[in-house]
Order: sequence, then structure tokens, then C-alpha cells
Amino acid sequence: MQESAPVFQDACPISKSDRIGLYKTILARRDVRAEFKPDPIPDHVLSRVLMAAHLAPSVGFMQPWNFVVIRSPQAKRKVHDAFLAANAEAAEMFDAGRRERYRRLKLEGIMEAPVNVCVTCDRDRAGPVVIGRTHIPIMDQYSAVCAVQNLWLAARAEGLGVGWVSILRQSALRGALGIPTTIIPIAYLCVGYVARFRQRPELEDAGWLPRLPLQDLVFFDRWGGEEGEPGGLTSRIAEAMALARQGRFMAAIEADGGA
Ligand SMILES: Cc1cc2nc3c(=O)[nH]c(=O)nc-3n(C[C@H](O)[C@H](O)[C@H](O)COP(=O)(O)O)c2cc1C
Repeated sequence: MQESAPVFQDACPISKSDRIGLYKTILARRDVRAEFKPDPIPDHVLSRVLMAAHLAPSVGFMQPWNFVVIRSPQAKRKVHDAFLAANAEAAEMFDAGRRERYRRLKLEGIMEAPVNVCVTCDRDRAGPVVIGRTHIPIMDQYSAVCAVQNLWLAARAEGLGVGWVSILRQSALRGALGIPTTIIPIAYLCVGYVARFRQRPELEDAGWLPRLPLQDLVFFDRWGGEEGEPGGLTSRIAEAMALARQGRFMAAIEADGGA
């Protein structure tokens, strides 16, 4: 008797080198502001990156996103003007000690990046009642953020830098791009090839804030709960963190295949 076909097959098995590639991409992703090159992004590359964004998970599969691709200098200029206004307001919110340091930070690459992408959320995309959004309405916006992260990682795998610009009044961004009031702008992203990718976040290098130790952020069984077992997961996490700090995280993943 012929064996019946398995009900479920892994349609896309992930090999060891695929896994290493994914970790490498996550590790090497950076927020880019100052290093954009003007080189155009080929349409087929940009399409892949947008498809990666579109393949993100979404609450109730509502796919609430749109992607406004901005290439015209005139359109970019309008958004840049909105950034300048918001950034002047932002500087005033920091105490005197930090204000001058804040003003020296480069926090956008709107005009320099050849492509900008505005990711939006249409809350009405799948009707008023959505599976999974019944009790926490903001889940649709979280879904759009998942699309942003997919885009960011796919771009990095393509050698493209992405910089998220959030110092914008949403009303000004809507005005600049003609976005209806029913649509929520989620992320304004600058995208382009770069002169270099930094090894660490720019804000870490600038001494603004340090990377937090992962082991301080992981709890067990309850808020604040610590793991009892000596040599357990927390010490593995501490070990992995130490490797990451020494820049040997990737080497460790390659050595054990991420197993
Ligand atoms: C929701 C969000 C908004 C952000 N907004 C800005 C921004 O307006 N300007 C900026 O320069 N960076 C912005 N960033 C980038 C962060 O500063 C950056 O992710 C962080 O410093 C860590 O650096 P990395 O992305 O290179 O690892 C934003 C990032 C996120 C996730």
C-alpha cells in the first residue's frame, strides 16, 4: 500500500548557512542617517524589499499597510521642512545639559537618501471587527511596525541602509504626502546604499546611551523573576552577551551552527 503524503511539509527548510545569514543580517542592521550615497536603487531590488515588508505578520491577516515611495526632491523637501520644525521643538524638550548635544546629532537623511518610504496603517482595511484586535486596538499599528522591521532587515541583506525618522508631526507628514486623516503614518524611512555600516548604533558610539545587558531584561515565570538553576539560561545569555560585546557573537553562532 502506498504511503499517504504527509499532511504538513516544511515548504522552505532553513539550512545552517541560511540561519547564519539571518543572524548576520540582524547583527549588521543599523539605523543610517549620515552615510547615504546617491546611487539609485534598482527597481527589482526595491520591489524585493517591499515584498519582504508585505510578507510581515499582521493581526487577523488584515495587512493594514501601504507604502508611499518618495523619490521626487520636491516631495522630500516638504517632509524635510516638517522635520526641521519638529526637530527645533524637540531640542527644547531636553534639559540644558543635553540640548546642545542633541542639536549636534544627525537624526535624518531625508534629502540624501535616494528613496524614502512612508509606511502607513489603514485601520479600516478589514472592517470594524478584526480577529486579534478585539481587545487591544493598537494591534493593527503593531502589525505595520512588523512590516517596517521586515523591510529594514531585507534592505540590510541587499546592502541598503535604512534610517527611521520619527521627529515629525503626523499632521505635517500627512499634509506633505496627501495622506488622508483616516490613515496613520507609522514610519518614515530613508533608504539607500551607504558608504559604510557602523559596527555599533550611532547613539551608542556618541555616548548617548549604552546597549543594555540582555540578562537584565529577561525574567522567569513572573515580572522580575530570576532563574534558580545555576549555569542555566541566564548564564548562557550572559555568555552570549559577552561574546557580542567582544564582537565574537557571529563566530560563536557559526561554530555551533546556531543549534
Ligand atoms: C520607532 C523608531 C523611531 C526612530 N526614530 C529615529 C529618528 O527620528 N531619528 C534617528 O536618527 N533615529 C531614529 N531611530 C533609530 C534609533 O535611534 C536606532 O535604532 C537606535 O539608536 C539603535 O541603533 P541601530 O538601529 O543602528 O541598532 C528610530 C528607531 C525606531 C525603532
